[in-house]
Amino acid sequence: MKALVLAGGAGTRLRPFSHSTPKQLVPVAGKPVLFHVLETLARAGITETGVVVGGAAEQVRAAVGDGSRFGMDVSYLPQDAPRGLAHAVLIARAFLADDDFVMFLGDNIFADGIEEPLDRFRTGGAAAQLVVRKVADPSQCGVAEIDAEGRVTALQEKPERPRSDLAVTGVYFFTPRIHEAVRGIEPSRRGELEITDAVQWLVSRGADVRAHLCSGYWADTGTLGDLLECNKVLLEGISPDNRGTVDAASVLSGPVVVAAGARVTRSLITGPAVIGARTVVEDSDIGPFTSIGEGCRLQGAGVENSILLDQVSVQGVRRISGSIIGRAGDVRQTPDGSAVHRLLVGDDSRIDVPA
Ligand code: G1P
Repeated sequence: MKALVLAGGAGTRLRPFSHSTPKQLVPVAGKPVLFHVLETLARAGITETGVVVGGAAEQVRAAVGDGSRFGMDVSYLPQDAPRGLAHAVLIARAFLADDDFVMFLGDNIFADGIEEPLDRFRTGGAAAQLVVRKVADPSQCGVAEIDAEGRVTALQEKPERPRSDLAVTGVYFFTPRIHEAVRGIEPSRRGELEITDAVQWLVSRGADVRAHLCSGYWADTGTLGDLLECNKVLLEGISPDNRGTVDAASVLSGPVVVAAGARVTRSLITGPAVIGARTVVEDSDIGPFTSIGEGCRLQGAGVENSILLDQVSVQGVRRISGSIIGRAGDVRQTPDGSAVHRLLVGDDSRIDVPA
């Protein structure tokens, strides 16, 4: 069983971060979403993974390498443009050969892993198996209709009027029959080869396509709100681990990870929280639900429920909440003490300030 991980999308809904960082490399709970994906696959016993990459191929390669840190072999499959999930299967034909495989979207998080649906697929004998989840409004997802036995009877992609409350998540189990299907479909209205259409192609030809109902936590980290929510849920699962230097005047309460080379002085860190490598925290109040990247500098800072990417500096600013601060972002008190907001804001950013 191989894995095909999709890390080629443009991530327009994650701007401004996706201007410089592919969305799959934006960190949640201290590491890129894509690392969570590869760890989930490794835990399920997958050892051979093809990662489909687009414009940010070099960044993804630099971060993931040959896969050995995840205990797997990773090869890279370049996609010239985001032409759809079924197109990714099309270009991965040689890598996949005639093996069964799991396709995993590189921005999806399954906190409880994929062992259960994988076992079900291995023993169930279906031509394809989707993982579906009940959601209140599935109109921004693929939507599955199923019969009493859990067989998929019809699929819709991002329908205005969903015919069921079952969203198709970003994990798909396929036998080689999918290759004929991805060759048999036409591009959709948005000009992409949709995996939903390929699976519908199988359903229409009488193939046994099953739906596995996922009850655990699932997130498609497609928007900034999703990222913060997902950060919160994944941080809840961390165990305390202090590899840095914490002085006697500081308090770590609850699960806190302090990475190697980090220094915490005269500060309160309330877990769950992650302080990245070589980050310096002084006279600050951090957490809960906060991931601080590597090489950051926080002085007199108050940060909760937030994600700070690497090299961020926060000086003399308290009450930062529900925020994501991009690489090398600099947040500080106005030097002359005037009560104004002085902003130097990049493209597609958003700022909320008190009225
Ligand atoms: C894709 C699929 C959609 C699925 C979703 C899950 O949408 O097209 O059917 O429900 O992933 O994350 P996208 O997020 O690429 O718009």
